[in-house]
Amino acid sequence: MEDKINKLIEKIKSHFENDFSGHDWDHIIRVLNNAKYIQSKEGGNLEIVILGALLHDISDHKMNGGILNHGGVIAKEILVELNYSVEIIDQVVALVDNISFKGALVEDKKISLEQQIVQDADRLDAIGAIGIARTFAFGGNKNRPIYQASVEPTLHDTFEDYAVSKSHTINHFYEKLLLLKDRFNTETGKELAKERHQVMEAFLNQFFKEIELK
Ligand code: ADP
Ligand code: NI
Repeated sequence: MEDKINKLIEKIKSHFENDFSGHDWDHIIRVLNNAKYIQSKEGGNLEIVILGALLHDISDHKMNGGILNHGGVIAKEILVELNYSVEIIDQVVALVDNISFKGALVEDKKISLEQQIVQDADRLDAIGAIGIARTFAFGGNKNRPIYQASVEPTLHDTFEDYAVSKSHTINHFYEKLLLLKDRFNTETGKELAKERHQVMEAFLNQFFKEIELK
């Protein structure tokens, strides 16, 4: 397993090296480490979890020019080239296509244990101190304002609307990040999310305190 994983890493690493939107190689490695940790507590197929974590952002709509649900297609091409079995490829493709956040009012699908683990691992990296840093990096990378008091958050009810929304960065906390704590799948994920959620709440309280100083 190790050898093939190293070949995969060699193949995909450069894809993430010029990303400055918070979806860089370090994000992939943190998700991989989170996912391995959760798998060690919750079980599930380790190989699928590792492959899924490494490939989960391989063609995300936020960085590929807006094409939705394209990650699975690219993941499949890469795994076919590396001679993975159809059984493994099918599971990883489903994982890559299923785990992304689709909107505040879009219900998360029923997903396999491996998908739940990688989704939790990815969501952990979206919240807490790292989540705050990534979110402002994303906003800056997409030329969005930090905050505009006049623009209220929108709770999107379709993935299409969520994907094209271009609101200020503080809104992203209300449209996604603060909602995640109730949308973790595994007990391990839920537990790890608690402190990270509190860090975001404390950050936002302080942010508004400083803005509203009279
Ligand atoms: P998902 O697959 O659930 O979308 P990703 O791993 O692709 O998760 O990362 C999403 C991260 O990108 C968010 O947690 C946030 O840091 C950043 N991001 C995405 N959309 C926005 C946005 N509209 N404003 C600010 N940051 C965003
Ligand atoms: Ni991700």
